[in-house]
Amino acid sequence: MPDTRRLPEGFLWGASTAAHQIEGGNTNSDWWEFEHSQNPIVKEPSGDACDSYHRWREDMDLLAELGFTDYRFSIEWARIEPSPGEFSRSAIAHYRRMVEGARERGLRPMVTLHHFTNPLWFAQRGGWAAAGSDELFARFLTAAAPIYATDVAHVCTINEPNIVTVMAAAQTALASGQAVSFTENPPAPDEATTDALVRAHARAVETVKSLAPHVHTGWSIANLVCQPLPGSEDVADSFRHPRQDVFIEAARGDDWLGVQAYTRTLIGPQGRLPVPQDAERTLMGWEYYPQALGHALRHSASVSGGTPLIVTENGIATADDARRIDYTTGALDSLATTMREGIDVRGYFHWSALDNYEWGRYAPTFGLIAVDRETFARAPKPSAAWLGAIGRTRVLPTEY
Ligand code: FCB
Repeated sequence: MPDTRRLPEGFLWGASTAAHQIEGGNTNSDWWEFEHSQNPIVKEPSGDACDSYHRWREDMDLLAELGFTDYRFSIEWARIEPSPGEFSRSAIAHYRRMVEGARERGLRPMVTLHHFTNPLWFAQRGGWAAAGSDELFARFLTAAAPIYATDVAHVCTINEPNIVTVMAAAQTALASGQAVSFTENPPAPDEATTDALVRAHARAVETVKSLAPHVHTGWSIANLVCQPLPGSEDVADSFRHPRQDVFIEAARGDDWLGVQAYTRTLIGPQGRLPVPQDAERTLMGWEYYPQALGHALRHSASVSGGTPLIVTENGIATADDARRIDYTTGALDSLATTMREGIDVRGYFHWSALDNYEWGRYAPTFGLIAVDRETFARAPKPSAAWLGAIGRTRVLPTEY
């Protein structure tokens, strides 16, 4: 009898990180500047982060030893193009060494080209919404081609454009002195940024494919897992479209679509509802809701018209590693259910490989591997051994 828990051939099994959150010293980026300005979001600056700009070999050694077969990391535009049109050969060589280093360890690299941070000069000329941003992004990707042109099968153009567009609106609100909260009441997306990101993605796919035709391109969307109360279905549709579905629709025809899910969003007649009082919350203040992943996969499959899916992020901020295993067991169970239903899922990347800089603070620990904030010493948690082992056995905890 076939083992229906066995992962399909080629299924990606990995962990994810993002450059700014782990590298440290990303001084030429807009986030670095933001971290050193007065604002209600940043509690502490990223500083040295996990020092992964120097310790990436150690990170990859650990992931490979744990059993993972894939590693998703991002390259930092601010390092590669510190001034407009001026490219750093040493930064390009650095990321190329990472790609080769991953392969040497038996890890297949998935390379994200943009994960939230911009070069400061790009932000100062108006960010994505400014004319010609897609052109500038394409120029960067052309210069960065030596990084991904060989040995890389998957490239993610832009991470969570739907969060990028909300962050753009938040920046505008902060600049005009308005109060902004991401957890309670995030601002509505900035329309010009949305349009620009959709254009930039199309342009990036075209650029990458022209330089490296074998690469499978896609982008990763934060799935809000909107759940309307009875009677609020229309409210949920109009909430979801500009904040999520417009980006999923833009993935129709792509090689794959990245699904990122952590929790759900309850919707009532007036829109987003607070997390129920009695719900368990994670260190992000999000509701503990492992089944989010299955809902996100189903929704992504239907809105993208059946584009193959890859879970590019899923995880939990908790200080209790047993809850991480529990959460991930539930999430994988919901993933197995969707696969059994026939949804085309091609991989799973856990967020995150390391405890890292969670956009303004270090307290929400998402890592499979703990990082000492003083010495940068890495210590894999029990969840890392548990999840990594699935990469070795290729057998899921539940049937699909
Ligand atoms: C996602 C981001 C990632 C991380 C997780 C918790 O929105 O892509 O960088 O912050 O959430």
